[in-house]
Amino acid sequence: MYTQAMDTGPKEERQPLRSADDAALEQRFEDRIEGGDFIEAKDWMPEHYRRTLVRQISQHAHSEIVGMLPEGNWVTRAPTLKRKAILLAKVQDEAGHGLYLYAAAETLGTSRDQMVDALHSGRAKYSSIFNYPTLSWADIGVIGWLVDGAAIMNQVPLTRCSYAPYARAMVRICREESFHQRQGYDALLTMMEQGTEGQRAMVQDAVDRWWWPSLMMFGPPDEESPNTAQSMRWGIKRISNDDLRQKFVDAAVAQAQVLGVTLPDPLLRWNAERGHHDFGAIDWAEFWRVVGGHGPCNKERLAARVKAWDDGTWVREAALAHARKQATKERAA
Ligand SMILES: [Fe+2]
Ligand SMILES: [Fe+2]
Repeated sequence: MYTQAMDTGPKEERQPLRSADDAALEQRFEDRIEGGDFIEAKDWMPEHYRRTLVRQISQHAHSEIVGMLPEGNWVTRAPTLKRKAILLAKVQDEAGHGLYLYAAAETLGTSRDQMVDALHSGRAKYSSIFNYPTLSWADIGVIGWLVDGAAIMNQVPLTRCSYAPYARAMVRICREESFHQRQGYDALLTMMEQGTEGQRAMVQDAVDRWWWPSLMMFGPPDEESPNTAQSMRWGIKRISNDDLRQKFVDAAVAQAQVLGVTLPDPLLRWNAERGHHDFGAIDWAEFWRVVGGHGPCNKERLAARVKAWDDGTWVREAALAHARKQATKERAA
């Protein structure tokens, strides 16, 4: 999931002076991007473009992996066998998304160990949404509807990202994300249409808690998003944070009506002049607090990842030993 908010790194430092050769290469690169060409791993690219992509793709990968935790928490408590099977499949999909994306980032010359180390030491970010707790079963439905829904909005334009390995990974990921959204919406619809009064209240409570953090997933407002302009020029980002957020709000209003839930924003209303819904102010102080490591579950999420990595050491070692043994056998044959 969830890349738009991931481009929240520092403003890039000034580039060193370039040689005439570099300038010519860079011009050719810019012309290719301008002409709608896709860049492959072996192609020449400016260092700044490479670093931007490494940051974005690796933080996207971390988000997929950390994103398994809030939902994985409910696998043992899913209300029916069908819901459990669906949730297991979804969580497993997210692991796959993380792996495609780590592999895409590796094509840019960074290693899996470097990326994992950046996550575990707190240098790399992941989407702030996964630092909120999942308090009830309705949260799992709402995550599918709103969080995976926001992920789709963010990610569909990335299937046209100028860096081809990233774009290709996103094509596969987006197909699965649309299933994720539908299963969440379906779980909520079942509770709203066939559930008890208590279950309907549970759904409304989950919507109340997840609505604003979902809007934050699109990242800071355009005027405070330092890397947006460059990323758009390079064709990494195709649609701005605010435009995607607006698209998401417009789509969610109709879906909320069908569900029979209220979105927790008294200022949310249709603006005929703009042809869009107006909505209330987002609490950006909360967003930056959570991105900065002080959300409700940041410590717990990171601790769970570090523990999983440490507990898995023997598996990685065994797999490497097995691969070495196989290679020796093949050489001997
Ligand atoms: Fe995903
Ligand atoms: Fe997903």
